[in-house]
Amino acid sequence: KKETTILAIETSCDETAAAVIQNGDTILSNVIASQMESHKRFGGVVPEIASRHHVEQITVTIEEAMAQAEVTFADLDAMAVTEGPGLVGALLVGVNAAKAIAFAHNLPLIPVHHIAGHVYANHLIEPLTFPLISLVVSGGHTELIYMKEHGHFALIGETRDDAVGEAYDKVARTIGLPYPGGPQIDKLAQTGEASIDFPRAWLEDNSYDFSFSGLKSAVINTLHNAKQKEVEIAPEVIAASFQEAVCDVLVTKTMRALKEYNVNKLVVAGGVAANSGLRQALKQAAADAEVSLTIPPLALCTDNAAMIGSAAHILFLQEKFADDRLNGVPGLSL
Ligand code: KG4
Ligand code: ZN
Repeated sequence: KKETTILAIETSCDETAAAVIQNGDTILSNVIASQMESHKRFGGVVPEIASRHHVEQITVTIEEAMAQAEVTFADLDAMAVTEGPGLVGALLVGVNAAKAIAFAHNLPLIPVHHIAGHVYANHLIEPLTFPLISLVVSGGHTELIYMKEHGHFALIGETRDDAVGEAYDKVARTIGLPYPGGPQIDKLAQTGEASIDFPRAWLEDNSYDFSFSGLKSAVINTLHNAKQKEVEIAPEVIAASFQEAVCDVLVTKTMRALKEYNVNKLVVAGGVAANSGLRQALKQAAADAEVSLTIPPLALCTDNAAMIGSAAHILFLQEKFADDRLNGVPGLSL
């Protein structure tokens, strides 16, 4: 038998997800049960609620992924699961389900790093070529990663405070938009003029780290001052100006990393990769620098298990297996 078929589970945050992936690049099924509605009224993900939803959803989600892929447990070569980082109670649901299936069906158990998964979402679109730089932007992450080969991840920059998606959600909240605010700010930004010069945190000259808390405060202060002086600032102007400041920093640092590391392949991942302003700015910059750019379609940018199954394939070939002591690790490093 030459095909490798992996069942993957992802439960690090608020999506209960299972997928069946063949040879690391072919999606047989990709099922996601979102809990977004349950967290909406709290304005963000509530960890305890997330854990309970995962418990309720995990079995049906796995069954659905197996059914859609038209495979049985006997067809599987391995069981993969997100080990971390993420919410501990949420991770544990996936890890325990994976351990049970691996034990019951005598399958090797493959722990996968959530960010490695996000990067490998790109491998489902087009085979990764090396070396590459990856920009991971989501509600929990803002990272620049250098990869010299499969399975090798060098973290070259990360956020020192808020993740970019988190900044989007907080700014959205201050202008009265519902959670998750990222897509709403994006939509508003397309109709407004970026006429406010919000601050960009470039940090030290050679740093690839990010900081978005100052930008977020600047937006809040601008709104507060306007209110006190009783002047109106259109929300679309705030949205457009904020988005431009975010994209400016993300794109500039990413392009500098490509140049400095002498890399001409860029892959992007995470929920904020859905952002139209960011996509457009990256496309333009990549074209100008003659860099090959891949951005997965939206469904593979946000949390899913297909990306975990893809990242697991290389670990399967390297036999990087775990035993039944595997645990969820909330702060797992790359
Ligand atoms: O990857 P993801 O689904 O979950 C995490 O692992 O965090 O990312 C969710 C984040 C949220 O903060 C959401 O507001 C943001 O991605 N997001 C966007 C857009 N779509 C989703 N941010 C800006 N523009 C968008 N179009
Ligand atoms: Zn994620």
